[in-house]
Amino acid sequence: MSESQTVRKHEIFSTTVMEFWLEEHQSWNPQLKQVVKKEQLEGPGLSKTNKGGWHSDKSLHRKTDPSVQTLVQHIRQSLSEWAMATFVLEERPEAEKWDIELWANINGKGHFNKAHDHFRSGIVASGCYYLQTNDRMDEGRIIFLNQLSLPDFTESAMRPRQQSFAISPRDGQYLIFPSWLGHLVEPHSYDGERISLAFNAGHPSLMVRRKGDRLVREKLRKLLK
Ligand SMILES: [Fe+2]
Repeated sequence: MSESQTVRKHEIFSTTVMEFWLEEHQSWNPQLKQVVKKEQLEGPGLSKTNKGGWHSDKSLHRKTDPSVQTLVQHIRQSLSEWAMATFVLEERPEAEKWDIELWANINGKGHFNKAHDHFRSGIVASGCYYLQTNDRMDEGRIIFLNQLSLPDFTESAMRPRQQSFAISPRDGQYLIFPSWLGHLVEPHSYDGERISLAFNAGHPSLMVRRKGDRLVREKLRKLLK
């Protein structure tokens, strides 16, 4: 490169992943854990992206227990903050209008969640609250995948500089990210359970629709009748 050359570099199209920490989590986490454990005893759980582990059904947000409702209220406020940082909006989305579905994941030693995203019509944001991790171990990381790095159909040995982004979550922390952002959860090697509460969220002022979604087909079917 000659010394007279001018170079300008643009790092473009960022994705907003936000981390939040709840200072008071120690006071209500034990109760929240009881709610999850009770649910595990009563429900068979679902098999989703989890390889091993237990996944509750997606109705935890309906529990009236104050620990659940406190968490949901915090998440609502944070979702609005995330939306302001992510989209060009004239007004902050009203926190109370977020439609949230919440479920629990319990991963034991060696369990993990394969790569997936949460995008479907109506779901604009997703996230995860960490109820029980292991503060001494950087294991069970959530890895976000860079889908912009190379087109899907490319077979190449080239590795983009930032192919993934990892976070080692801690108790009382939660993340919020776009529902279409791919991610996976690594296994942990120690004995003991990692417990997290994942969520999806939609808002009437932030409608997204996935092409080919059943909702669209149902609408078309009605129109054609
Ligand atoms: Fe997920």
